[in-house]
Amino acid sequence: MAATRQANWSSRWAFIMATVGSAVGLGNIWKFPYEAGQGGGGAFVLIYLVFVFVIGTPMLIAELSIGRRGGLSPIGSMRKVALEEGRNGLWQLIGWSGVIGAFIILSFYSVIGGWTLAYVFKSIMGAFSDITPDGADVLFNALLSDPITLTIWHASFMAMTMGIVMRGVEGGLEKAVTLLMPALFVLLVFLVIYAGFTGAFKQAVVFLLIPDFSKLTFDVGIEALGQSFFSQSIAMGSIMTYGAYLSKDIKVGQAAVTISAADSAVAIMAGLAIFPLVFAYGLDVGGGPGLIFQTLPIAFGKMAFGAVVGALFFGLLLVAAITSSISLLEPGVSYLEHTHGIKRKKASTYAGAAAFLLGILTVLSFNTLSGFTIADMTFFDMFDFLTNNLLMPLGGMFVAMFIGWFMLRKNVMEELAMEDKWFRVWYFLIRFVSPVGVAVVFIWLLYGKFFAG
Ligand code: TRP
Repeated sequence: MAATRQANWSSRWAFIMATVGSAVGLGNIWKFPYEAGQGGGGAFVLIYLVFVFVIGTPMLIAELSIGRRGGLSPIGSMRKVALEEGRNGLWQLIGWSGVIGAFIILSFYSVIGGWTLAYVFKSIMGAFSDITPDGADVLFNALLSDPITLTIWHASFMAMTMGIVMRGVEGGLEKAVTLLMPALFVLLVFLVIYAGFTGAFKQAVVFLLIPDFSKLTFDVGIEALGQSFFSQSIAMGSIMTYGAYLSKDIKVGQAAVTISAADSAVAIMAGLAIFPLVFAYGLDVGGGPGLIFQTLPIAFGKMAFGAVVGALFFGLLLVAAITSSISLLEPGVSYLEHTHGIKRKKASTYAGAAAFLLGILTVLSFNTLSGFTIADMTFFDMFDFLTNNLLMPLGGMFVAMFIGWFMLRKNVMEELAMEDKWFRVWYFLIRFVSPVGVAVVFIWLLYGKFFAG
């Protein structure tokens, strides 16, 4: 069996930046605003925050603890901890689901990261100046319909991800995140202030922060739970892998709360950077997945210094995406490293190249193979469905059940080192609330997918 190595993060700060970097990504800046927009604003945001703290944060604690206790890849850690607890080694399947899920997410995440990269350049080149809504559609569709261009951007994004992961935990991940995360924060604050001066800020604040409960339907709730999982990087290996590099003296409870708070703050700030412009320029808040790529450029095209602001905005999105994609590549790399003794350079190259190749199916889902569907889903839809709707909720539920019901309470307590009263709150949430909450959502999603219209 591979040896457990000692902690790798050089400081608590580096660990927090890395984990916040994993959590903050396309999910916060691309997905969250459009889902909040479609879900009626404040009601979605409120229920989202409840899920983040009641279900997501306890799960982060669980994943970090198991990862740290195992000290291996998610597969190795799950197996090791299960055996130590006198349980079946098959619990390692949770680890497999995470490593494979992260790999699949990476394959399409990189394609969307590639769009972002393309949009940084488009903005700098002045492609948005005076663009009309139709023009913005044409620009976006021209990108999506061109498989070669998409593949080149996808390859560039993946190469950046591999370049960082190759350099190791301290030399690569940690250097990248401690540089990029503060930069992201500064950019975001700048964009919010900018939106505050130029846009309809008050309207945006009301829309995002004052809940209109008539908008709160069951579907909005489900969407919010799915989004909270994705945004907090739950159950797909990233957090468990980062936990394996964590030293014993760091309190996972405090860390998880910090990570969740930062993740939610960034999502809301992204909304506060985007919606003032959406309102000020009379754009559609329910613009959906195209909100960032089709709607926002219209605002950039009209405003003073729009090319610069646009490039900064997409640059911000790019930074957020990269610090997440490295956490999606790392689980697979740590598995190849720990279990098969493959050197990190080689492991990153293999895993990254394979994810790149799989990503080509996502590239083609927008053009050549857009008509090729199974159960009405393109390859991209299938990958998204498989990870978001199956592996993530199931993985999360089993992680919660494992730590809540199959590990000795005393061992869990020792690993968490929490104050007694907080431990009790957490233990209740992870044993009862998380598994039941996820089960409800899971069944609802499957039902919606296959039985309802
Ligand atoms: N949380 C990231 C985002 O919001 C994406 C991500 C990284 C992720 N690692 C993950 C999602 C693991 C689910 C599981 O964009």
